[in-house]
Amino acid sequence: MSALNKIARTMVSNRRGILAADESIGTMSARLEQVGVEATEENRRVYRELIVTTPRLSESISGIILADETFHQKLSDGRTFPEFLDDIGILTGIKVDTGAKALAGASDEKITEGLDGLRERVTDYVRHGATFAKWRAVITIGDGRPSDRAVRANVHALARYAGLCQEGGLVPIVEPEVLMDGAHSLAQCQKVTTAALESLFEELDLMQVQLDGIVLKPNMVVAGTDSPERPAVADVAQATVEALRATVPASVPGIAFLSGGQSPELATKHLGAMQGLGQLPWELTYSFGRALVGPALETWRGDNANWAAAQEALSSRAVANAAAR
Ligand code: 13P
Repeated sequence: MSALNKIARTMVSNRRGILAADESIGTMSARLEQVGVEATEENRRVYRELIVTTPRLSESISGIILADETFHQKLSDGRTFPEFLDDIGILTGIKVDTGAKALAGASDEKITEGLDGLRERVTDYVRHGATFAKWRAVITIGDGRPSDRAVRANVHALARYAGLCQEGGLVPIVEPEVLMDGAHSLAQCQKVTTAALESLFEELDLMQVQLDGIVLKPNMVVAGTDSPERPAVADVAQATVEALRATVPASVPGIAFLSGGQSPELATKHLGAMQGLGQLPWELTYSFGRALVGPALETWRGDNANWAAAQEALSSRAVANAAAR
């Protein structure tokens, strides 16, 4: 077993999943302000300390994805976040993309940036305790979208990112997210997700990415947020697994879903329903952001009197997801 394969398997097995706490400074600041907390570097640090020090988190969480700011910050006891995670048996991940920017010549489509200098950044992150990385590409549905060029540009960047991570010793989480925004049907989401994944695996092959040393992080196949359609849990599970079976090679050790704006409860139900769909070649788990930490942030609201209750809110989502899988 290669070192990359061993890490990837640890990330997705033993009924554990991955916690995405890697919101960019801008996104994290907006989320703090929504609950009445001033968006300062220190408040972002304190909130992340609340998340990672949640009791018994390592029973349901195998790895936590950090943003660069958090990666270099310290807990109140002086340990860096990667040092602390290592001490409690959780792998440290690092978001290495630098965000989705407007794609030239395409209206309302984006390309994720961050390849320049990535080799050197990977080396530095490994030296300071990271074992895996994340890069998120976004694909939109509607009005002629996604265009071929948006899909191809994004899967190209994902594959080059994955290659650079593996070369430097990090397991890449490969995340091509088909967004829920829009009025599209479940069937349209399935078609676009299938096509995007097909194109992704062609590109990963071209770039000679070692498939047993990645974790795929896709969207679940759902109807758009403005669609009148409200698919049953069983239909979402079925459509998602069909899209994955059609495209994801069996050598990929695990698939860890993003939650994408689904409610925490629904995301958990969808994950649970997929486990009953027969023998699958890969582990199916969670790599949720909002669906794991949303209730904790709402409970905390910057008041340390709510600290334990907020950790309990995170813990109960993590335990529910571990049970669902
Ligand atoms: P959500 O689960 O909130 O979609 O976040 C997961 C993630 O890491 C997005 O890049």
